[in-house]
Amino acid sequence: MTREEALNSIKANVENKNLIKHMLAAEAIMRVLAKRLGEDEEEWGLTGLLHDIDMELTEGNMNTHSKLGADLARELGVNEAVVHAILCHNEAHGVPRETNLDKALFCVDPLTGLITTAALVRPDKKLAGLEAKSVIKKFKQKGFAAGVNRQQITQCSEIGIEFDQFIELGLGAMKTIADDLGL
Ligand SMILES: [Fe+2]
Repeated sequence: MTREEALNSIKANVENKNLIKHMLAAEAIMRVLAKRLGEDEEEWGLTGLLHDIDMELTEGNMNTHSKLGADLARELGVNEAVVHAILCHNEAHGVPRETNLDKALFCVDPLTGLITTAALVRPDKKLAGLEAKSVIKKFKQKGFAAGVNRQQITQCSEIGIEFDQFIELGLGAMKTIADDLGL
C-alpha cells in the first residue's frame, strides 16, 4: 500500500485533527529512526502513520484499541510485521513486543505528546525554536504533560538509542513537518 492510501484511510476513519497530527508525527519519527537503524523507512513510516487508525472507531476502549487497528491495517495490505507492531503497541492485549519495529513504535508513541506540549507552552507555540535540552528538562518535571508515560519513552534503550539522542531525533523529525503539525 502507498502512503497516500494509508492517509486516505486515516481521513476516512479519524475526525480529530490532533489525532491525525499525532500519527503524522509518529510517522516522521519512525522514518528517522528507521534511517538511523538501517531499517525499512517506508515500512516504519507506515507503522507510525497507521498505528491509531482505530482510536475513534473503538472509542478509546483499550480492550479493543489496536486489535481493530491491526485488522484494518492488514485489510489495507500492510505486511504482518506492521500489523504486529500496531497490535502490541497497546499493552492491554498482553502481546509481547518482539521486533525492533514493535519496540520503536512503543517508545515513539508517547514522545510526540511530550514534544507537542513543549512546543505549545512556548510564547510562539512553535517547534522551530524549541531545543532538545528544553524538552529533556520538561521530561524531568513530573507535572508537565503528566499524561505522558515517561517510562515508555525511556524504552528507546531497547532499540539501542540513548535517551538524549532519542529526544533530539524525535524533535528533529517533528520539525521537518512542523507546518503539517500546525506547530
Ligand atoms: Fe498513538
